[in-house]
Amino acid sequence: MTTLVRDAGRAGDATLSGVDRAALPGFIRQLDEAALLAMAVTLHGEGALAGGVARTADQVADLLRVAERHRWILRRWLAVLAAEGWLCHDAETGRYQHLRPADRADLDAATRALDAARAGLGYPPAMTRFFTATAAHLPQLLRDEVPLQALLFADEDLETAEAAYKDNVVNAYLNAVVAHLLRNAVERPGRSEPLRVLELGAGVGGTTADVLPVLAGRPVRYRFTDVSRFFLDSARARFARYDFCEYALFDINSDVLDQGVTAGTQDMVLAANVAHNAVDVAGLLAGLRELLSPGGTLVLVESCREHYQIATSMQFLMSARPGVPAAGSGDLRAGTGRIFLTRQQWLAQFTAVGLTPALALPEADDPLAALGQYVFAAVR
Ligand SMILES: C[S@@+](CC[C@H](N)C(=O)[O-])C[C@H]1O[C@@H](n2cnc3c(N)ncnc32)[C@H](O)[C@@H]1O
Repeated sequence: MTTLVRDAGRAGDATLSGVDRAALPGFIRQLDEAALLAMAVTLHGEGALAGGVARTADQVADLLRVAERHRWILRRWLAVLAAEGWLCHDAETGRYQHLRPADRADLDAATRALDAARAGLGYPPAMTRFFTATAAHLPQLLRDEVPLQALLFADEDLETAEAAYKDNVVNAYLNAVVAHLLRNAVERPGRSEPLRVLELGAGVGGTTADVLPVLAGRPVRYRFTDVSRFFLDSARARFARYDFCEYALFDINSDVLDQGVTAGTQDMVLAANVAHNAVDVAGLLAGLRELLSPGGTLVLVESCREHYQIATSMQFLMSARPGVPAAGSGDLRAGTGRIFLTRQQWLAQFTAVGLTPALALPEADDPLAALGQYVFAAVR
């Protein structure tokens, strides 16, 4: 283990004092089970798999009137329910049947119980409200009659979205690791030039808010970017006191070398929960490598397992609009319906584009790893 990994791990661990680490996988399982129930209740709602009838994924989607762009979500649900033993899948005919009984009363009970898991994972009550609202609206979400944003931003103050990326046990750990990496870079002996940082998909600033204070008062040029102008405007107001910060549009699915950032200039490129939105992850990583200065570091925060709560909520944000290529459609995920790369896949992708993996935390044998969220650092 390198000094960097050890010290970054310690910075992360410091956020977990008072947290029963071993209990965390159980809380995650509770969230998963409530989501499986929500999927099953939605399928039962239209009687799509009632009375022993066997149907293909397309037939189920037709009955539920699932919008074309969200059909991949329904296919994932069916695959996941089958893998979890909730329903039978005949690989030869492609048909599903015998979905375990589940009704709204079961779901209501599971959603109430979920609040304890939510609290155990350190998410604020807004998160339970969000999961309850999404579970209640799954048929409309599938039909594209209600946009997920209407439920996510229902509180209008970004509290739910911020909770997803910041105010919780695992993100506190991950953000502390990222903050350590930045502190380490800005304090590197012999540095004469300002540290140049490019943040991609910075969004509601869940990661940014934990790293900017570490950089305050140091020689830094920080470029906060997102594909959406909406986030730039709110970040500009929120982070106004950090005068070393600038704000710009940046699309990870357009040529990264043609968006106002000169090749070979960035000491750190940070992308928290955004790189999986790439149509072609390998192409993106190769481009980001070009933006890095020699010895510069790419830092990714990524979910590396499929959380079923995400499959019944945030995943609706990942369905491509008609005519737009879907995330993963140009890389190793093509045709799998999977959005998230595994830990091993990310490490292999870094190596394939000539980046040297330097850190992946938490360690694989840590109970935190059950949550499936990681910080990766890879060096040019
Ligand atoms: C899951 S959120 C992560 C938010 C943020 N990194 C944080 O830690 O709070 C994903 C963000 O990526 C942005 N995004 C989605 N597609 C993108 C793209 N093609 N290029 C750049 N950003 C993108 C979204 O606008 C959103 O802000």
